[in-house]
Formats: sequence, structure tokens, C-alpha cells
Amino acid sequence: MDIRDKVAIVTGGASGFGLSLSKKLDSLGCLVVIFDINKTALKKVQKIIPSCFTILCDVSDIESVNSAISQVSKKYNHIDILINNAGIMKSAPLVNFLVKDDRRHSLQLWNQVITTNLNSVFYMSRNVADFMLNNRTKGVIVNISSISSHGNIGQSAYSASKAAVEALTKVWAKELSPFGIRCVGVAPGFCNTQGTADALEKVMLDKWISKVPLKRLGEIDEIVDAIFFVIQNDFYNGQILNINGGLVI
Ligand code: NAI
Repeated sequence: MDIRDKVAIVTGGASGFGLSLSKKLDSLGCLVVIFDINKTALKKVQKIIPSCFTILCDVSDIESVNSAISQVSKKYNHIDILINNAGIMKSAPLVNFLVKDDRRHSLQLWNQVITTNLNSVFYMSRNVADFMLNNRTKGVIVNISSISSHGNIGQSAYSASKAAVEALTKVWAKELSPFGIRCVGVAPGFCNTQGTADALEKVMLDKWISKVPLKRLGEIDEIVDAIFFVIQNDFYNGQILNINGGLVI
């Protein structure tokens, strides 16, 4: 895919992978639209990437998604690339033996992770795929998964959300490819981002690093390069690109 003048929506584009990817796409001539829930961060992004279109949107909320997509469709008559990147990393065991009262996995945490990481991908993709089909656009949907999709200890909700996102990637590739729309995934391992630092204590992170054959975290640019590859390569479809330094969980 030649990305020049293509309209690309990046969810969660105000931070981490999403922000770096948005900068790269913008610098190469893409018309970048960022959906994010963080108003302050969005304002900063508008200064960093003046030509991008930022929309305050909670992608876990269907009304918010409908309204944001409607704003994009009024500004542009095509959407070519969707990056479902917004996500939260939260951990909890199924039963927490260190807690005295109710030691069962919190329902609130389960719902928060599933709505943010999984429902959001469904809400965004049903709208964007419909828009692409109406406009006969030969586009691509990229879902950001995680190495945790293989089943990471202490991450019931996060692992389940990412495994489901990988399954949807395969379903949608089969359903949409006949119309020229690809659907692909990228599953990073542990990376050097604020999100990782916030989600994992240093002791835990060091433990993970020691298990990575390369003995280091991934860098944001390495993940962005992988996302860029799956956007550009028109024969890459229905697959999840795992990029994790060789770590197996
Ligand atoms: P990050 O925390 O730096 O950025 C996530 C962005 O999503 C933030 O700007 C946040 O405001 C936004 N966001 C969160 N909830 C939202 C919502 N409901 N609606 C709209 N925007 C929302 O995260 P990072 O590290 O860049 O991760 C991006 C994706 O990569 C996530 O899906 C994450 O699960 C995945 N991932 C990250 C890894 C890492 O090591 N950082 C490893 C594997 C996967």
C-alpha cells in the first residue's frame, strides 16, 4: 500500500506506540486522525503533529465511537487504515491469596479491561469496515495484540482480551479480504514504554527481561517498524506478527 494521502485512524494515538506511529505516518504523507480519551495529551499531540486531526473519544463507548467516526466521515470521504491500538494493561490473579476479604478477581477490573481492549476493537472495526465497504476502499485494519494473548500468569482479563483480538483479526481477514480489505495483527512483547513502567513493578520487569533471549525490552521504534510493515505489505493478511525478542510465555 502506498500510504501517501491515505486517511489513517490511530486509536490511543496520544501516547506510546500510537504516538510514534502517528508521527511516522504523518511524516510520510498520511492524513492521520487520532482518537484518544486523554484530553491533555491530545492537546500536546496537536502541537507535535500540527497537521493531524485529533478527536476526544472513548473507544470503549459505542456512542463516543459513532460520533467520532461521523466526524471523520464529514471531513474525509475515505478511511484507508485503522490501527486499533488503544489499550490498558492491568493485572490480577483469578484468586488473590494475599487479600483477606473478597479474594476473587474483581468484576470491575475484568469489565474495564474487556471493554477497553476488546469491545473497542469491535466498535471501531464494525464502523470503519462498513465505511470502507460503502466507499469501495481497499484498506487495512491493524489490531495491536500482545505476547500475553498466549496466556500470561496474573493477567486473566488482559490475556483474554488480546487472544480475542487475535481471533477477530483472523475472522475479519476471511470476511473482508474478498472486498480488498486486509486485517492483520501485531503482538509486541514487553517494551520500554510508560505503559509498561506503570503496569509492572521494577522487580517483575527485571524478571521478565531475564527471560527474554535478547535480555532487553523492545523499543517503541522497533514495534512501530513492525506495524508499518503490516500496513504496507499487501500480501500480509490474517496473521499476527509476533515481535518479542524471542520470549516465550
Ligand atoms: P500507552 O498507555 O502509552 O498508550 C495507550 C493510549 O491509549 C493512551 O494515550 C491512552 O490515553 C489511550 N486510551 C486508553 N484507553 C482509551 C479509551 N478507552 N479510549 C481512547 N483511548 C484510550 O500504551 P502503549 O504501551 O503504547 O500500548 C499500546 C498498545 O500496545 C496497547 O493495546 C497495549 O495493550 C499494547 N501492548 C503494549 C506493550 C508494551 O510493552 N507497552 C506490549 C504489548 C502490547
